[in-house]
Amino acid sequence: SSKQLVLGIETSCDDTGAAVVDETGKILGEALHSQMEVHLKTGGIIPPVAQRLHRENIEHVVNEALLASGVTPHQLSAIATTVKPGLSLSLGVGLEYSLKLVDQYKKPFIPIHHMEAHALTARITEPVHFPFLVLLISGGHCLLAIARGVSDFLLLGQSLDEAPGETFDKVARHLSLKNHEECSTMSGGQALEHLAQQGEQQKFKLTLPLARSLDCNFSFSGLRSHADGIIAQKKKEEGLKEGQIVSCAADIAAAVQHTVALHIFKRTHRAILFCQREGLLPERDAFLVVSGGVASNQYIRKVLQILSEATGLTLCCPPPRLCTDNGIMIAWNGIERLREQLGVLYNTEGVGYEPK
Ligand code: KG4
Ligand code: ZN
Repeated sequence: SSKQLVLGIETSCDDTGAAVVDETGKILGEALHSQMEVHLKTGGIIPPVAQRLHRENIEHVVNEALLASGVTPHQLSAIATTVKPGLSLSLGVGLEYSLKLVDQYKKPFIPIHHMEAHALTARITEPVHFPFLVLLISGGHCLLAIARGVSDFLLLGQSLDEAPGETFDKVARHLSLKNHEECSTMSGGQALEHLAQQGEQQKFKLTLPLARSLDCNFSFSGLRSHADGIIAQKKKEEGLKEGQIVSCAADIAAAVQHTVALHIFKRTHRAILFCQREGLLPERDAFLVVSGGVASNQYIRKVLQILSEATGLTLCCPPPRLCTDNGIMIAWNGIERLREQLGVLYNTEGVGYEPK
């Protein structure tokens, strides 16, 4: 039979992404439109604005991915689209557009779970076999799970409040980093990482969250309020107006980054010890996959590299462009599901289908 080709479409948050991937994981074409610049201006994502921008861009993004791939819609094996979780207004745009294509070209439709797609992305480029441990850290998600199969995940822990990317974004906003000339076009996380390199992490000591809790959950809001308090205090001391940057911003950025990294380290360490004690991971060649936008943070990567080496796991972080939201991971999840004949719908009646 000829090669499987899947078109993937992602619109769950603020990125409109599309890609065509084949069964070997080769990326034949991709396109991505980020709304970050607009949302940076408003200080956060406003769902109806995100929806409008997805609507304005989806056709162009899908066509660009198809054109780059040299694949015509008729040649596709299936169309895969994120159906959850995410902002419902945003998800709706991708779903509606996909179903139009599904109808027009009579293609199978594969509903994709955004988190599962993040988790499986590593398998495009690395021989990561099941079961493996996965840590998802981004602006919208924070979880630790064991991936036992393409559609079989065991949740070990998640954030009790916000996601680490959200914490970075909020602290960056509070520090007015968009007014910092070197950081003006960066995401909050990127800006904090950049600034932290010029700061001293030990100048401010932030409390490590959930230090005594015996599970694998996360919490970031406490350390964020702690940092916010310090920033407010310093602003007052320095007599700053709204939008001005405190002199010790780099030290605060370094302390926040360090404490977030240490918290992630401790919780992931617990998860690894639990998995090893219960025999939930292979005894040899077990993988720790780290994905999501925050996984592109070099400081956090280094900490996780040390942890992996110490516990005998192989760390696998997909390259940054695969770690953040994109159409490639959705297309790839489509390929993986197609291979195992999982949740493929042959008409448009199954919109309410819930991936496991
Ligand atoms: O995966 P992603 O593109 O979107 C979702 O949240 O699903 O992740 C975006 C998040 C943002 O919160 C951003 O601040 C954070 O990832 N981020 C980073 C870095 N680059 C992006 N956080 C820390 N360090 C970075 N270098
Ligand atoms: Zn995501």
